[in-house]
Amino acid sequence: MLDHGGRLRAAAQRYGIAVADWLDLSTGIAPYGWPLPAIPESVWQRLPEPDDGLEALARDYYGAAALLPVAGSQAAIQALPRLRRPGLRVAVLAPAYAEHAEAWRREGHLVQELGEGALDRSLDRFDVVLVVNPNNPTGRLIERERLLDWHTRLAARGGWLLVDEAFMDCTPEHSLAAYSQRPGLIVLRSFGKFFGLAGIRLGFALAEEGLLEQLAAQLGPWAVSGPARAVAAALLADVEGQQRQRECLRVDGLRLAVLLSEHGLAPAGGTALFQLVGHYQAVGLHGYFARRGILLRLFAEIRCLRFGLPGDEAGWQRLEQALKDMPR
Ligand SMILES: Cc1ncc(COP(=O)(O)O)c(C=O)c1O
Repeated sequence: MLDHGGRLRAAAQRYGIAVADWLDLSTGIAPYGWPLPAIPESVWQRLPEPDDGLEALARDYYGAAALLPVAGSQAAIQALPRLRRPGLRVAVLAPAYAEHAEAWRREGHLVQELGEGALDRSLDRFDVVLVVNPNNPTGRLIERERLLDWHTRLAARGGWLLVDEAFMDCTPEHSLAAYSQRPGLIVLRSFGKFFGLAGIRLGFALAEEGLLEQLAAQLGPWAVSGPARAVAAALLADVEGQQRQRECLRVDGLRLAVLLSEHGLAPAGGTALFQLVGHYQAVGLHGYFARRGILLRLFAEIRCLRFGLPGDEAGWQRLEQALKDMPR
C-alpha cells in the first residue's frame, strides 16, 4: 500500500498529540462543504438502483455524454489496467499521484515515468499514457489542445489517454469531459475533493459506452452505496452551491499561496485546493509543523511539502503563527 495524506491517527500517535488537536493540511480535500441532505430510511434499507437520477445529474455537472459512478476514482484507477492484456507500454507523466503507476505495474504492464518534454517526444512508443491534470502534487495544468493531440496520436494505434481530473472542479473550462466519448479517451473525476466529502468514496469514469460497460462488469454490481448516491445527487443538483464552493476555494487557494510566499515559502505550483512548496529542508520543516500539530504532506524524494487549505479562521491563524515562528 502506498503512503498518502490524511493519516491523522498515525500522526497523533507518533507525535503524542490528540487527534482533535491537529490542523490537518495533509490532503487536497476541501475542508468545508454542504449541509448534508437527510437520507430516507428506504435508501439505507434497499439496494442502490441505477435509475435514481444520479448519472443524469453527473452528466450535466461534468458535461460528459456517458459516465459510470465508481467507489472513488481510485476504484477505476485499479480496475482500468485489467481491461487491457498485460504487457502494454505505459507512460506516466511524473511526478504524479502514485497510484496510477502502481496499478498498471501490478497488472503486469511496463510502466515508465517521465517528464512532459520526454513524453511528448516519445509518445509514439507507448500504448497508454496517464496524465493527472491539474497535477497532484505539482499543480501543473496541461492545456487541452496538447492533450487532445496526444489522444489522437494514441487512439490512432488503439492506445489510451487516461486523464485524471481529480482536482479539476475549480477550473472546469480546462476539462476534457466534453471529449470523453472519443474512443481511447478516459477521464476520471473524484467527487470527494471539491465537495469536501472524501469519506463518501465516490468518483466517476467518463468514457465511451463500450468501455464503461467493461469497467462496470469489472467492478461488479452495487459498486457505489445508496446513501453515497443520494447525497451526491443532491449536491450535483445544487448549481448555486457549487458556484459558492468554487468561489470560496479559489479565494482560499489564493490566500494560501500569498500567505506562504510572505513567509519565504513561495509555492512552486498548486491548485485552489493545495499548494506545493519546494524546500531543501522539507523533511525538517515537516517535523517542525507536525510538532505544532499541523500535519502537512511530505514528498521527501522531491523535497517538497504540500499544504492543504485550513477550514476556518482559527486554522488560518494557527498556520500563520507557525509560519512566523518557523526556524530560518
Ligand atoms: C490525483 C488523484 N486522483 C485520484 C485520487 C483518488 O481519489 P478518490 O478515490 O477519492 O476519488 C486521488 C486521491 O487523493 C488523487 O490525488
